[in-house]
Amino acid sequence: MEIDPHSQPFRDNYKLLIGSVVPRPIAFVSSQNADGRLNLAPFSFFNAVCPNPPTIMFAPVNRSADGTRKDTLLNILETEEFVVNIVTEDIAENMNIAATEYPKQYNEFEEAGLTPAPSVKITPPRVKESPINFECKLTKHVSIGEDGTPGSGNVIIGEVVYFHVADDLYHEGRIDLEKLKPIARLAGDDYCRVTDLFAMPRIPYETK
Ligand SMILES: Cc1cc2nc3c(=O)[nH]c(=O)nc-3n(C[C@H](O)[C@H](O)[C@H](O)COP(=O)(O)O)c2cc1C
Repeated sequence: MEIDPHSQPFRDNYKLLIGSVVPRPIAFVSSQNADGRLNLAPFSFFNAVCPNPPTIMFAPVNRSADGTRKDTLLNILETEEFVVNIVTEDIAENMNIAATEYPKQYNEFEEAGLTPAPSVKITPPRVKESPINFECKLTKHVSIGEDGTPGSGNVIIGEVVYFHVADDLYHEGRIDLEKLKPIARLAGDDYCRVTDLFAMPRIPYETK
């Protein structure tokens, strides 16, 4: 099968992307607008970028119905601050509720039954029930495609200015994945757990 993306609707390109780029980690992003109204939403177009300075990226796509920007993006462009909270099995259903496209005035913390906890270096709160939180400041916003067009996108690049890691997950600088129990997004309604691990040590060049 060969497919020219220009020959099909963007929704079909979306299906190819989300079915192929798997599994995807989930950034559960808390933000607030200039008036202090809280917002919380998951984004699986998410990854780490580099450690110096510690930097992450995620991609809020413009709404497929009308091309408008999502509340998370609007808040971050307004305040330049946000928190990435890691999603675990324990809060998977809360995360799914927070993904509902509520009108602006709704506070997804309340809708999803999650607790805002104060951040240290920025104003938006963290999710108390998430064991890892990255306090982030906006580094750069990149607009992809024609802004306002359904399916067009945005890349938000943010510097992690403060890490929170639950004590029981942290051993000599490493995260205990068996205790963290993160979940990842596949296509459609499907998710996966990180339970089938195997190790493959890297081979130094000299011994090849
Ligand atoms: C697991 C999961 C991952 C998601 N990933 C993305 C994503 O990467 N980009 C995006 O634009 N929307 C994504 N969504 C949809 C948003 O969470 C949804 O549109 C949300 O209502 C946006 O909220 P906001 O308008 O308050 O920012 C995802 C939804 C779920 C359940």
